[in-house]
Amino acid sequence: MDKKITIAIDGYSSTGKSTVAKQLAKELGYIYVDTGAMYRAVTLYVMRKLFVTDTNFDEESILRHLPFINLKFVFDEELGHGEIYLNKENVEKEIRLLEVSKHVSKVSALPKVREMLVKLQKEMGKDKGVVMDGRDIGTVVFPDADLKIFMTASTEKRAERRYKELMEKGENISYDEILENVKERDYLDTTRKDSPLRKADDAIEVDNSNMSLEEQYEKVVKLAKDKIAQV
Ligand code: DC
Repeated sequence: MDKKITIAIDGYSSTGKSTVAKQLAKELGYIYVDTGAMYRAVTLYVMRKLFVTDTNFDEESILRHLPFINLKFVFDEELGHGEIYLNKENVEKEIRLLEVSKHVSKVSALPKVREMLVKLQKEMGKDKGVVMDGRDIGTVVFPDADLKIFMTASTEKRAERRYKELMEKGENISYDEILENVKERDYLDTTRKDSPLRKADDAIEVDNSNMSLEEQYEKVVKLAKDKIAQV
């Protein structure tokens, strides 16, 4: 049997990372971990408590409540991947709302939040056979990952994709608002002090501005299978 490897997929928001990572994990029979969902679920929790609103960011209360946040991925046979549960509630849909996207970068910049989630992520991937996507997987969570992929695409292309996705879900939102959110998140994610988004030196960059999802997927599957054959 092939040896199991660790695959880290990092990159900017709305580059199609999650879609590709999810499919790849299914194809390889690996565990898939969407670390963005974990940061989003923590953000949803603190938003519900009103510690984070458009006008308020109560860092002290956020930190005080971290021990009460329990996160789990529960595997769904039909979907073929896990969905995230926040204190036993499935929040997979709610965490994707634009309201959550607006606040998530600030919450995920808090070192204590990162510390808690990175610890969980390391635990989830300790037996290898994992595809994990996020911003700091190849740099911080698994700096020794066997395969690191860094996904990029132009800001406009990413905003377009996100706009289509949210429209299909029935969110009433303008393209400009999405573009603004994508730009702001890029800025916050790449400039934060603790583990900013950056390409690991040994990561392979995939710019998918002009690739279809299928082309992108084919490229990533090939990289993964070649790597598995080598180990
Ligand atoms: O992948 P996503 O867009 O769902 O991630 C949501 C936010 O979470 C993103 O703007 C930055 C943060 N994040 C992070 O800081 N580190 C990760 N490993 C994953 C996500």
